[in-house]
Amino acid sequence: MNIKEKSQLLHNTSEHTGYIKKLVNGKASVEGYIEYIFNLDKIYSSLENSLNNNKSNSTIAPFVTPELYRSKLIKKDLEFLNNNALFTPLSSTEAYISRLNEISKNKPELIIAHTYTRFLADLFGGRTFFSILSSEYKISPEGLNYYKFNKIEDFKTYVGEYHGKLNSLALSEEIQKDFLNEVYNAYIYNLAVSNELDCKLSK
Ligand code: HEM
Repeated sequence: MNIKEKSQLLHNTSEHTGYIKKLVNGKASVEGYIEYIFNLDKIYSSLENSLNNNKSNSTIAPFVTPELYRSKLIKKDLEFLNNNALFTPLSSTEAYISRLNEISKNKPELIIAHTYTRFLADLFGGRTFFSILSSEYKISPEGLNYYKFNKIEDFKTYVGEYHGKLNSLALSEEIQKDFLNEVYNAYIYNLAVSNELDCKLSK
C-alpha cells in the first residue's frame, strides 16, 4: 500500500503547521499544552475503546496493542499538571471521535488506519517531544508519562514488526483504497485539532 510515501506531504504539513509547529519551536505555553493533551486523551480513549470493542475481529486483533495505549498515561499527566482543568473538547476533536465511532461500528478494519497514524507518531516523535517539553517548557518527568513506552525494548524492531502486520493485512481491493483514504483522514483530523487549537490560543 505504501502508506508512508503516499502520506508524506500530509505528514510534513502536520509537522510544520498549527499548534504542533508552535510547540516544537518553543512558542507555545504549558497551559496550551495541557489543553492539547486534554483533547488527545479524548481521542485516545475513543481509539482504544474501538480497538477493545473489536478485539474478536481477527483482522483487528493483531493491532490491539495495550503497550501503545496512551489514555491512562495522559490522564496521569493531566492530573499532575492541572487537577482543575475545565476544558471543553475542540469541535475538531468531537468530529474526530465521531468518525472513530462510526468506523468502529460500520467498517472496523479502518480503525487500523488511525492506530497507525497516532501510535507510530508517538513512537517516532516521543523522544523529541519529551526533550522539548522538559527543556523548553520545564515540565518535569512526572508530567510526561505520555511519552513512556516501558514495554517496548527496541523501537526499531517494534516499528518494523508493525509495518509487517500492516503489509500482511488481508484487505479487499476496495477496502485497501478506503484504508489509504482513512490514513489521510487521520492526518486531516489531527491537522484540524492542531489548527483549531492554534487559532484558539492565538486569540
Ligand atoms: C514536529 C512534529 C513531528 C516530527 C518532528 C515528526 C517526525 C517524524 C519522523 C522523524 C518519523 C520517522 C520517519 C522515517 O521513518 O523516516 C516520523 C514518522 C511518523 N510520523 Fe511523525 N513527526 C511529527 C509529527 C507527526 C504528527 C502530528 C503525526 C500524525 C498525527 C505524525 C505521524 C507519523 C507517522 C504515522 C509516522 C510513521 C511513518 C511510517 O513509518 O510509516 N507525525 N515522524
